[in-house]
Amino acid sequence: MCISLLPMSAHPSTPAQTPAQFPAPGARVRVHHLQKAKVEGRKFAMLTAYDTMMANIFDEAGIEVLLVGDSAANTVVGYSSTLPISLEEMIIFAKAVTSGVKRALVVCDMPFGSYEVSPEQAVASAVRLMKEGGVHAVKLEGGEYFAPHVRALVAAGIPVMAHIGFTPQSEHALGGYRVQGRGDAADAMVKDAQALEAAGAFSVLMEMVPTATAKRVDESLHVPTVGIGAGAVTTGQVLVWQDMLGLGAGKGARFVKKYADLRSIVSQAATAYHQDVLGGSFPAPEHEFED
Ligand code: KIV
Repeated sequence: MCISLLPMSAHPSTPAQTPAQFPAPGARVRVHHLQKAKVEGRKFAMLTAYDTMMANIFDEAGIEVLLVGDSAANTVVGYSSTLPISLEEMIIFAKAVTSGVKRALVVCDMPFGSYEVSPEQAVASAVRLMKEGGVHAVKLEGGEYFAPHVRALVAAGIPVMAHIGFTPQSEHALGGYRVQGRGDAADAMVKDAQALEAAGAFSVLMEMVPTATAKRVDESLHVPTVGIGAGAVTTGQVLVWQDMLGLGAGKGARFVKKYADLRSIVSQAATAYHQDVLGGSFPAPEHEFED
């Protein structure tokens, strides 16, 4: 099998599947475009990205929002949870992503420990993500308790996406990976979402929430919601790219749809290369330099 790695410029450019209402390729997706999508009943797509090349592919494919997720802790660095990843590490991923993107809105996760202490700490950390990482907005996990933090960020000119429902940074407090907002807990989730919107969040992301609760939250807000395991009721959807493209081992979560099987493709290519090297058929004369 031969999988060529052409330089980016050598690939035929993919026509972006851009709904007319979003800005054309080259023009930036802004927070107000997402708001307009909610008002007009349209959808937008969001994917995680942690490096320049994947960010560039997703951007050219027309994905409206890229998330420099702290899931990089698991998917890239190999930590066992999102808790250990540092602000410095997130800044490196943020720089990599923003340098590959022309059109998408780039949102970056505020890592655990970079915002909880105070609104001032949140502003100082987010300023670094924007100034050094070049991102356009930040995302933080938590409910009403974090409304003052969101208010301070927004006052400082930093757009904020709020993340409620299952919040991986609180996995130990929540007792593991569990659906949130079932039954009576739905009221509290609506209250959290409304407090975050009132504080100025431009969007509320819900993770692992029953569709009925997600619908209540969405209908109670003016700003667009984004879902991951929250059904089809939100304006936006987000997935972790390694899940969506089938790079990881194992079955994956219920809410993931696998659009490719990259793990098999990469594994087959690595095996073919290994055999070629051991068998002496790579490099061939065309890969060699003449005197
Ligand atoms: O870090 C991340 O990838 C996320 C998504 C799961 C929404 O926060």
